[in-house]
This record gives sequence, C-alpha cells and structure tokens, in this order.
Amino acid sequence: MPLDIIVGTQWGDEGKGRIVDLLASNADIVARYSGGDNAGHTVTVGDRTFKLHLIPSGLVYPHTLGVIGNGVVINPKTLCTEMEKLRQQGLIINPDRLAISHSAHLITPAHIALDQAQESARGSSKIGTTLRGIGPAYTDKIARSGLRVGEMLDSKTFTEAALRHTHHINHTITNLFSAKGVDVIYTAAELCDYADILRPYIKDVSLLLNQALADGKKILAEGAQGTLLDIDHGTYPYVTSSNPTAAGALVGLGLGVGCTERVFGVTKAFQTRVGEGPFPTEAFGNIAFRLRGTGANPWDEYGTTTGRPRRVGWLDMVLLRYAARINGLTDLAVTKLDILSGFKTIMICNAYRSGGNSYQELPYGPVNLEDFNPVYEELPGWEEDIRHARHWEELPQAARNYILRMEELVSIPVRLISVGPEREQVVELG
Ligand code: IMP
Repeated sequence: MPLDIIVGTQWGDEGKGRIVDLLASNADIVARYSGGDNAGHTVTVGDRTFKLHLIPSGLVYPHTLGVIGNGVVINPKTLCTEMEKLRQQGLIINPDRLAISHSAHLITPAHIALDQAQESARGSSKIGTTLRGIGPAYTDKIARSGLRVGEMLDSKTFTEAALRHTHHINHTITNLFSAKGVDVIYTAAELCDYADILRPYIKDVSLLLNQALADGKKILAEGAQGTLLDIDHGTYPYVTSSNPTAAGALVGLGLGVGCTERVFGVTKAFQTRVGEGPFPTEAFGNIAFRLRGTGANPWDEYGTTTGRPRRVGWLDMVLLRYAARINGLTDLAVTKLDILSGFKTIMICNAYRSGGNSYQELPYGPVNLEDFNPVYEELPGWEEDIRHARHWEELPQAARNYILRMEELVSIPVRLISVGPEREQVVELG
C-alpha cells in the first residue's frame, strides 16, 4: 500500500508544499490530484525559493517523477510558464520527469473571463475566488462540455474544439453577464500553441501510477487547497469547486481505494483563510498583525497566487477534528509553530457555543458557522525563538505542551513540526 496522501486540514495555505518537499525525499512519484493554479506552493531550498502553482512540489528533487492527475484543471499558459521558470532555476523538466493526465480538463481564457464576470455579478455576496477560472472549468467538466487535455493530441480536432468552446463561453459572458468575451481566434490559436508544447507530456496517468505501484514504487499524492474549501465538505458556498480531501486523491489520480497507507494532514499552528466566508476564530488588531506579518518575508500571510493579505486567527480544534474525520487522517504535520513565539498566552478553540448549547462537533458540518461562537482554552506561550530546534527536547516546555494538547484534542499523532521556512527547519517525531 505505498500511497501516502497529503491534505490540507484548513482553508488552504497550510504549508503543504513544505511537507511534501520533506516527504518526497523518499518518494518515486509526486502527484497533484485536484484544483488548479489557484494553488500556490512555496518550497525553499538553500537560497532558492520555488513558487509552484500546478507542477507538484516534489519535482524540486532530481529523482522524482511529477504527475498531474485527471482531477486537476490546467491552465496551459500557467503550466508552460511555470515549466520555463523552473528550468531557469535549474530544474530539469521534460516528459521523463513530468506526466499530465489525458483526462484532466483545461482552463481557458474564456473560463477566466467568465469567473471574473460571475464574481462581479455576485456583488456583496461574492466568494472571493482567485479569478483563475477554476469554477467555470469544473462547471464545464460536470456539464460534460469541457475541453480535456487529451484533445490536444489531435491538432486539427483540437482547433475546432477550442473555437467551439470559446464561442460557447463568450455567449454566456455577453448574454448572461453583459460583460466582454475573449477574442475567439486569438484564444484558439494560443491554446493550439500550448498544445504543441504539452503534447509529449500527455499520458494515461492512472495506468502509469498503477504500474508504478505494481513495481513497488512509492507515490505521494499532493493535495491543494484544504478540507474546508472542499466542494462537498467545506464551508459551502465559500469553497473551491473540487475535492481537495483525501478521497479526491483516488478519484483525481485513477487509483483504487486499497492502495493508501498514510493520510498526512497538514495544519498551521494557527488558522488562516483568504477570500470570503465564515472564520469563527478570526483575530484582529495586534494579534492579527503578529500572526500575519508585514508582508516583507515570503512566509508572511499574503497569498502566493493573488498576493491578498490572509485573514488570520487561533487554531480551531473543532474544525481540525472534522478534517481528521473527513480525511481519515493517520498523521499530522504542524507548520509555522515558530510564529507563535513571543505570545504571552495562546488560545485554542476546542468547542463552540450556540443558543446556550456547547458543541464539540458541528451538528451539520461547517455550515452556518456564523451562528457558533468559539470557546477557548488559554495556554501559556513561550518567549524563545524556536527556529533552531531540530529535536523535540529543544522546544520550550510551553511549545511542547501546545503540541501535546493538540494531539490530545484531535487524537492523531503529530509527526512533523516546522519551525521555519527552510527545508531543514523541522522537528521530526517518531
Ligand atoms: P477558486 O478556487 O478560485 O474558485 O476560489 C474559491 C475559494 O477558495 C476562495 O475563497 C479562494 O480564496 C479559495 N482558494 C482557492 N485556492 C486556494 C488556495 O490554494 N489557498 C487558499 N485559498 C484558496
């Protein structure tokens, strides 16, 4: 059962790229299974920082094969630009190192224009999407009218399909939203240019991965976004349009249910969110300022994809327990513990209160969260800078107590704690 799945347990941006990077040293294949270039994963190795949106983070290692599964929606322009950028940073990107599923769907400029038109039309009830065309591309997929990567294999029929697709979406943009569509001929020609670049990378990813498993290879499935942004299990409608949860890895890669060994949940030591939607433990003022950072550092809480300041707050164990249940977590990785250094006290939400009742679990999952008020436990903080800690014993007692309390409240063992942005700034536990 050599498949490990890495999922975000919050609203994305948990530092999954960081954890994938650590675990990928023992993997043969790293595979993205959901989302698109709405994701942004940052991996720092020495003085090089890699910013990835579509290409699996594990490709930073020379020995891994990167795979983009059928569950991903691919903007070919972003993908080609990212491939080129990574080459300039010294990585080898060729069809022996990267495979793209023929069944993945494409995001086109028309989808992006439609995403923008839809968000404008939503007015004050906008979702706060990344405006990357994610929703419209998945809508087309479910409506059975999408463009698939495999269609790029035949340039003649692909040109016709791209023209048809762009006309169709333009029709919606202009007639339903009274907004401006995209240039049909230019868009189709651009898509055909990208098809020429991507053609050698297109594979039957399910076949490739199943053969790899049969050969005893180790696969790491790299999640994007997080559990609370899941279309089925998240804070609907303030969610993305895919399944970033663990089951999405199997569907999004064409793997059977029996092959999973571990499901690694990644959680920040606190909570963040970008875009609209409920956030019960959100903090403001000085606390928020300290959790977010000023934006001067790459690890400060500003979106990798959009640059938007993230909303920040205290860790929410009700939602973490929910994520553990939905994903069947076996292990936890806690990121950014170092950011909590210097707080006199640290709050942790272990229950909600609503209408005079106390809730350890939400009655209907994370809907109507506005009606629930967090009940906090207060834990002593620590003053020490912990970025140099590499062993459990090197963490201050108060930091250890914080982790131990988390473990106790979620009943999942913490295996990794990141204490800084560098690859080696991590405490590994048994
Ligand atoms: P969309 O995925 O662009 O449609 O955006 C839907 C919601 O998911 C918005 O609130 C986004 O801010 C959020 N979102 C999408 N991708 C990410 C991510 O990678 N990290 C954090 N939030 C995300």
